[in-house]
Amino acid sequence: MRVRGNGFFQGTLAHNNDEIDDARIFDTTLRDGEQTPRTSFDYDDKREIAALLDGMGVHVIEAGFPANSEAEFEAVRDVAEATDATTCGLARVVESDVEAAIDAGVDMVHVFASTSDIQIEDSMHTTREEVITRSVAAVEQVADAGVEVMYSPMDVTRTDPEYLAEVLEAVDSAGVDWVNLPDTVGIATPSRFADLVQYVRKHTDARIDVHCHDDFGMATANAVEGIVAGADQAQVSVNGIGERAGNASLEEVVMAIESLYGVDTGIDTTGIAELSEVVAEKSGVPIPDNKPVVGKNAFSHESGIHAAGVIENSETFEPGVMTPEMIGAERSIVLGKHTGTNAVRQHLEEAGYAPTDDEVVAVTKRVKEHAAGKRRVTTDDLHEFAADVGIERES
Ligand code: KIV
Ligand code: ZN
Repeated sequence: MRVRGNGFFQGTLAHNNDEIDDARIFDTTLRDGEQTPRTSFDYDDKREIAALLDGMGVHVIEAGFPANSEAEFEAVRDVAEATDATTCGLARVVESDVEAAIDAGVDMVHVFASTSDIQIEDSMHTTREEVITRSVAAVEQVADAGVEVMYSPMDVTRTDPEYLAEVLEAVDSAGVDWVNLPDTVGIATPSRFADLVQYVRKHTDARIDVHCHDDFGMATANAVEGIVAGADQAQVSVNGIGERAGNASLEEVVMAIESLYGVDTGIDTTGIAELSEVVAEKSGVPIPDNKPVVGKNAFSHESGIHAAGVIENSETFEPGVMTPEMIGAERSIVLGKHTGTNAVRQHLEEAGYAPTDDEVVAVTKRVKEHAAGKRRVTTDDLHEFAADVGIERES
């Protein structure tokens, strides 16, 4: 797909990275997403969200942490049975955790261990050597069970690169299939993260996955840059929910790599709007109006110049390579303080009026006065203004 325009990006993809044709999406809404403070999904929530993800063609669904509780174990097991996607269960590098994940019947076990010194010392309370020993044992345990294995060197962006290389070589020899790169505390920047992906590429034969947190608002940019730098898969969550400021969001990462880089994810993006609403409801985390892709304002236009442009050609003030139809949403022209006559005419016509130019100007004046008092303009208000101005309704 090409970005249309006459500027810097004309007729080209931002990086024109011809080798990257496709990328896989690993969704962690039901695991990291559920770690959002004050959020918990019940069994039915997990089943419903997993079914939507599965229907859209997400490659991997991380359904939870089976060792956490009996209920979590059951939920992961049911998601594994009910979906076609690869189901993944999380496990620490602890034998009983790995066993629980395998028993839950997942297709992939995601084992993780801290590799930064700060977390090795003050969270795991162990040593670098012990982390390698336990990581190797956990990877072997999964591989021996014939289950796909993903390994995360947790806090990789604060990990000593030489030690990271040692860890990667050890888990490679133990049979790891995937290495995930968790920017656990969200300190990566796109160019540094790309360098990390390329560094890791040199030290593993496994496929590479990226997991970016949003502490500095760069999770999506980092995940996208990770893919552009050669990672095979991005971990995301719907609406970006997750620990603290959350994860790279599914909707942003999918739309950015598809629309801006022409990378095929195979995801049916038309399910995004519905999925986002369901996750907002079940998680109790509302979608901000200005959230990219899925926020109420993502395809809404109020100001006169923008609304008039979009009424004529939606690409004037939208990216064009991403439309509301692509995500299963609708565009809206909103009436408010910044409204111009084109938008008012459109609203009046949609409401069954055939106003003259003077009538449109008069109603526009009323709309602006009303909205300037911080009031929303409702359909009833519009009818009231039309009646005041004396416009007859045609239908
Ligand atoms: O952010 C993180 O480090 C994680 C790991 C469990 C992969 O979520
Ligand atoms: Zn995380």
